[in-house]
Amino acid sequence: MIFNSYASLSKNEKLTPYTFESEEPGPMDCRIKVTTCGICHSDLHMIENNWRISKYPLVPGHEVVGRIVEVGKMVHHLKVGDRVGVGWQSEACMECPDCLRGDENLCSENKATIVGRHGGFADHIQVDSRFAFKIPDAIDSIHASPLLCAGITVYSALVSAGMGSGGRVGVIGVGGLGHLAIQFASKLGNRVTAFTTSPDKAEFAVNLGAHDVVLNPTSKDQLREKCNIILNTTHNDLDWSYFLNQLDSDGTLSFVGVPASPLKIHVGQLLAKRKKITASPIGGRFIMNEMLRISAEHEIFPVVEEFSKDEINLAIEKVKNNSIRYRAVVDFRK
Ligand SMILES: NC(=O)c1ccc[n+]([C@@H]2O[C@H](COP(=O)([O-])OP(=O)(O)OC[C@H]3O[C@@H](n4cnc5c(N)ncnc54)[C@H](OP(=O)(O)O)[C@@H]3O)[C@@H](O)[C@H]2O)c1
Ligand SMILES: [Zn+2]
Ligand SMILES: [Zn+2]
Repeated sequence: MIFNSYASLSKNEKLTPYTFESEEPGPMDCRIKVTTCGICHSDLHMIENNWRISKYPLVPGHEVVGRIVEVGKMVHHLKVGDRVGVGWQSEACMECPDCLRGDENLCSENKATIVGRHGGFADHIQVDSRFAFKIPDAIDSIHASPLLCAGITVYSALVSAGMGSGGRVGVIGVGGLGHLAIQFASKLGNRVTAFTTSPDKAEFAVNLGAHDVVLNPTSKDQLREKCNIILNTTHNDLDWSYFLNQLDSDGTLSFVGVPASPLKIHVGQLLAKRKKITASPIGGRFIMNEMLRISAEHEIFPVVEEFSKDEINLAIEKVKNNSIRYRAVVDFRK
């Protein structure tokens, strides 16, 4: 079958229409007719080859929602017509200890939807059906898309850093990931402080559920009540000593956004109050389903700007210059 997609033909190139022949679905595969796809900052990192793993032509898009149009002969849990979503991960070995624990995102054999294979900026996508997740009816496709990468990444990172309810959570960056992290933390009963560089986002963060906002934090901005978790969702090099100082005893600074430079941290800053630094990649299949259920139950939905497929480069440009509010989603029906 011919797939009609939008691809970057070489590093940093604008997307152009690109057709390719898809292989026949394997026994565990499914073929999905794409309805919507969000734009994650990782798509931009891939177009720019920031991580030196990009292969061109590159079809980005890993917040994919659509309907199943074909399944392989061993697929029993999904059928033609089901509405499903695909995120950053589209394959794992399913047999290693990480996979057996439900941490498929940690599998050494994991394959990403847009690394060495074509993603969701297309009329169709084909993936291992075990990485296509049913979307709850309460979430429409436009709002489901960003949950498949931004949503799972922040929810999984917060949970693995120990978030329950009644704690204090800081979120650095109010972008696609950050604005969902504020909602997960706040709607699940935590006190939230948002750190932002954008003045217009302060009021918005409060409307999302943040209790405090710190604009362009400097060493003068010491929190009265320190956080149990601070989640960094930006790729900037920031003053990490400042953020470690805003953590309570046993607090965790967790990275989902990867700063360009190595961290310069003195161990003494961790030792006295047993603080931790960690990082977290997306989330496994079990927690993906949990996150989708919780989003539906607590009405944790992204705030999106919608674009037609002809506006795909405009949308990417807006993500690049941090003017998107707060997640760009391309509607392939338009
Ligand atoms: N760990 C994982 O599994 C995982 C998964 C998905 C994405 N990511 C990474 O997480 C990061 C955030 O992704 P996203 O999709 O949320 O990005 P985004 O929507 O562009 O948001 C990033 C936020 O960072 C802040 N920022 C500060 N300086 C910036 C600059 N120079 N350019 C752009 N933003 C700047 C902005 O927040 P303020 O305006 O509030 O300051 C911006 O909204 C990316 O690096 C992405 O690759 C990691
Ligand atoms: Zn992503
Ligand atoms: Zn595995």
